[in-house]
Amino acid sequence: MIYLDNSASTQIREEVLNVISHELKYSFANPSSPYKPARKSRISIDKSRKIFAEILNCSENEIIFTSGGTESDNAAIKGPVQSLKYFGNHIITTAAEHHAVLHTCLALEKQGFEITYLPTDKYGIVSKESIFNAIKENTVLVSVIYGNNELGSLNPIREIGETLTKLKKTESKVPLFHTDAIQAAPFLNLDVQKLGVDLMSISAHKFNGPKGVGVLYIKNGTPFESQMTGGGQERQKRSGTENIAYISGAATAMKLADEEKPELSKKLNQLRKLIINYINKNFPDTIINGHTENCLPNIINLTFQNIRADDLISALDLEDICISNGSACTTNSLEPSHVLQSIGLNANLALNTVRISLGRYNTEEEITEFLKILKMILKRSSKLNYETSVEI
Ligand SMILES: Cc1ncc(COP(=O)(O)O)c(C=O)c1O
Repeated sequence: MIYLDNSASTQIREEVLNVISHELKYSFANPSSPYKPARKSRISIDKSRKIFAEILNCSENEIIFTSGGTESDNAAIKGPVQSLKYFGNHIITTAAEHHAVLHTCLALEKQGFEITYLPTDKYGIVSKESIFNAIKENTVLVSVIYGNNELGSLNPIREIGETLTKLKKTESKVPLFHTDAIQAAPFLNLDVQKLGVDLMSISAHKFNGPKGVGVLYIKNGTPFESQMTGGGQERQKRSGTENIAYISGAATAMKLADEEKPELSKKLNQLRKLIINYINKNFPDTIINGHTENCLPNIINLTFQNIRADDLISALDLEDICISNGSACTTNSLEPSHVLQSIGLNANLALNTVRISLGRYNTEEEITEFLKILKMILKRSSKLNYETSVEI
């Protein structure tokens, strides 16, 4: 099997599996209970929190564990805006966000919030200027994805954050700033001070950790109404008995990913270039979507001229090769992806578009094999199209 859908999810690391099974076995006591085994569970969570706090360059009490990226995005948006609803009800986001952000904004719109969905350029990138032009008296939150999950293009998070941070020195009403760093986490700098963000979402299964566990950074002092009420865990911000094993697994995966960030980015960039060069040489009418320099090292989004994405995915699946037609969350939909629409790709071309996403276990041999099979499928498909058109 050649797995090229690492933006949808990654294979868990052996080291992470070992930590999870150890914690499941030995840290079974409820961390809120008043005896020694419970303190062991508490220590495991504290250690994990410390790892994230070091990598994000923040205080440990600014790290909240959640059930994954979707919950982190929901809480990052709903938490502050519901708390600030008497001060303002306007949210700014972009048209190319993940559904975890977009659908959260749509739900808030139904509750009376006003949302600005900023258009992006042809790479899926929003301009800093358009954000600042959209800020109004009643704007309480800006939410912009760090690295786009379909295109890989990077938004100017640091530039937006720096300007908002400067504004805070002179103005009293400056909107909070959230970034969905879920795809960016294994590759980019997550220093929240440098990025100037108030909230950041992370999901462990994007960097060889377990599914169903995420992190939300909430800067101290950020107004926040908890979305999960109950026993008051996670400093009253996210109730529910902590998933100790998965939290420890997430922290281990993050630590390992952080240590190998430059090395992994370099390797995946090389593999990415191998694919792009091959496509340019052999199938020059293929459209490469997304920015080719200002991008994540692992995502390649391609529009082929003569084959539907679904047909190509099925043909590759028969050869045990996994790629996707955009974000996994929209895979079962016949609608062209909203991200592709946001970059101006017409519906016909959008349906010919696939995403290849690389991960730490991919090798050059796998890519060579993938390209060989891809070429065979594309040649077969264009021959078929030609013969069909001749007959007509
Ligand atoms: C950019 C982005 N945001 C949010 C999510 C949702 O994360 P999770 O699958 O952990 O709920 C994903 C997952 O694909 C994503 O890529």
